[in-house]
Amino acid sequence: MITNRDIISITEKYGSPLYLYDGDLILEKYRELYSFFPWRKMKIMYAMKANYNPAILTLLEQNNAYIDAVSPAEVMLAKKVGFSSERLLYTANNMTDDEMYEVKKEGVLFNIGSNSRLEKYGRAFPGSEICLRFNTDIVAGANEKIQTAGALTKFGLIMSDINVIKKILKRYNLKVVGLHVHTGSGIKNTQKFIESAETLLSMGKREDFPELEFIDFGGGFYVNYNPDNITKIDYYDFGRKLSDIFSDFCKNYGKELEMRFEPGKYIVAEAGHLITQVNTLKNNRNRLIAGTDSGFPQLIRPTMYDAYHHILNISNPDGEPHHYDIAGNICETGDCFAVQRKIPEIRENDILSIETAGAYCYSMGGIYNLRPMPPEVIVVNGKDKLTNKRISSSELAENIYNRLEN
Ligand SMILES: Cc1ncc(COP(=O)(O)O)c(C=O)c1O
Repeated sequence: MITNRDIISITEKYGSPLYLYDGDLILEKYRELYSFFPWRKMKIMYAMKANYNPAILTLLEQNNAYIDAVSPAEVMLAKKVGFSSERLLYTANNMTDDEMYEVKKEGVLFNIGSNSRLEKYGRAFPGSEICLRFNTDIVAGANEKIQTAGALTKFGLIMSDINVIKKILKRYNLKVVGLHVHTGSGIKNTQKFIESAETLLSMGKREDFPELEFIDFGGGFYVNYNPDNITKIDYYDFGRKLSDIFSDFCKNYGKELEMRFEPGKYIVAEAGHLITQVNTLKNNRNRLIAGTDSGFPQLIRPTMYDAYHHILNISNPDGEPHHYDIAGNICETGDCFAVQRKIPEIRENDILSIETAGAYCYSMGGIYNLRPMPPEVIVVNGKDKLTNKRISSSELAENIYNRLEN
């Protein structure tokens, strides 16, 4: 566990702002997922879009994880880290033909979610194995932007198109080895997760898909971001229920299939902290604003999804609480990590930790206003290691200027 004292000493060593990851917690959450499901043939495919830091990928690689990748570069990075092609599933949407050929060379299994791509893939690679991604029409997830089934989403094959799909499969002699759904991210209601799984399984008829090897139920395991408003989810109960349903399915199908999940958030979210230092305190007519050395391009979830991230005052945890806007250094009014949040008294130079920042934070980051992304440090077995060094403003300016050369 990373303590306040660790955060202070690591920040003194590497500076602020800084992404800090607890590698031991990542492994604990990853292993916990296996323990939820009393099913022998299980695979946890880490959704690396949540955080592609190579030290995190290496930790998971060394612990026999599998990968869900969504772009050619994700596939290539996972392979560089040591994941063999067989340990990857490629779930891109709206891919170009060039990308399809590029990734096919990497030897990974494609997970296809549109009739158009299925046709093009079949024409290009007849006789190959594929996985089919379906839209189960079960809508769940923390907010509309991360719900990935139903009438409003671009994802997945439409179940009622099954006859068209079967014709394409037949035309190109494609072998369907897996069925897939990703219902959404941050699913609080496990019943919805189960309904989506059951709907997907209802598509798994032996006469339609005689060569199935696995069913992939996607990601979406819920993570608590606000310690003052915890939703307890009994994932052991969920795991038992789903395994029973899966067992019945496999009996009917006549073969013990592999059960797969693709969690991102659950594995890495809680392990991450964005450390930022307050440099400017302002009282805008009774509204206290703490200005920090980070900003929304470095952690976009509050601005993009109105997401809550808990914020700790590491330097003054016992200070008298006041309400603050925690603002960044970007030229936008919406550049706020929290609005009127009650936090122990903040003084200039205090170190804040923006919590639960391991998933979709660094990986969704950018350099708007030409602020370099923070460095990243991982702690494993009590030892800190820099996994991505700080880029100075002059290096960033130089990099951008050098584009003139190309
Ligand atoms: C296809 C797919 N699988 C898995 C995930 C991981 O979801 P989560 O991080 O909520 O577990 C996502 C997230 O967007 C996804 O699109």
